[in-house]
Amino acid sequence: MLSWFKRDKTGPHERSGGPAPIRQNFDVSDAKELLKEIKGEYGLDYRRQEAITVRKLERFAIKNGFNSFRELFAKYRDSERTKRSLINALTVGETYFYRELDQIEAVAEHIRSNRCSSILSAPCSSGEEVYSILLYLHENASIPPSLHITGIDINTDSLAAAERGCYSQRSVSQLPDSVKESCFFRSGEEYCIDRLFKRYASFVYKNIFDREFTLLGKFDAVFSRNMMIYFTDEQKREAVSRLRSVLKPGGVLFLGHADVSFTPEGFEKVHKGRTTYYRAIY
Ligand SMILES: C[S@@+](CC[C@H](N)C(=O)[O-])C[C@H]1O[C@@H](n2cnc3c(N)ncnc32)[C@H](O)[C@@H]1O
Repeated sequence: MLSWFKRDKTGPHERSGGPAPIRQNFDVSDAKELLKEIKGEYGLDYRRQEAITVRKLERFAIKNGFNSFRELFAKYRDSERTKRSLINALTVGETYFYRELDQIEAVAEHIRSNRCSSILSAPCSSGEEVYSILLYLHENASIPPSLHITGIDINTDSLAAAERGCYSQRSVSQLPDSVKESCFFRSGEEYCIDRLFKRYASFVYKNIFDREFTLLGKFDAVFSRNMMIYFTDEQKREAVSRLRSVLKPGGVLFLGHADVSFTPEGFEKVHKGRTTYYRAIY
């Protein structure tokens, strides 16, 4: 009997002291070529997480019936559908309501005192950032009737979740109970946002490096938090310059705390309460 409890439960690769090698017909140099193409198109530079990302590519390839990275790469170039589902598998959309609340407060105050009508959340992931701004305004002032918040992202699963507007307990855990009770309805375990808020928001598939990105329009404020972690410094500068190009004169930019280590060009720093943001100066 006891021998059952003592049985070795480790998998074969754990017993041999490491993960299983990448399958033989999956040539890692092809995976690196694919990652280079992804970096050029989306700014996502996975070189520091190369081993783990190659492993993700392998899992994606096997699950989707590809026999090599080369086959996957060819389909990636050929099929928008494959490209989007691979990008969905690679991009991390970790986000939650009232993340860095100081910044939400500051943008709400900016919207209120400058009668702003257009805000961009780039990237919005599953929509918590967009709805957080609306919830905060609703709770602490009112939502200006002409306000519209556009959320963009390259992860289509996240965008679909944003449209749906239903969230886990974990995602809403920073919200006051009063907000959870009055601004959401329960659907099973999920909290679904009242459709009153959806009226002020739209979610669009857009890569910040797309040529057409600048055609999105002009915004009073841009929120860009926690997207640039995988960008090189050069791509971060390019991203900031693109975000600046969609700001109205005097418009403001909010960045995540760990996003850039340089002072963005063409902006002046604004210190407001416990937060800092950037105002476009020319
Ligand atoms: C961690 S989420 C950030 C969500 C939210 N802004 C926040 O701070 O909670 C990062 C998002 O950036 C998106 N992303 C990465 N590269 C992008 C690009 N080139 N254009 C648009 N979105 C991008 C990913 O798909 C992912 O959903």
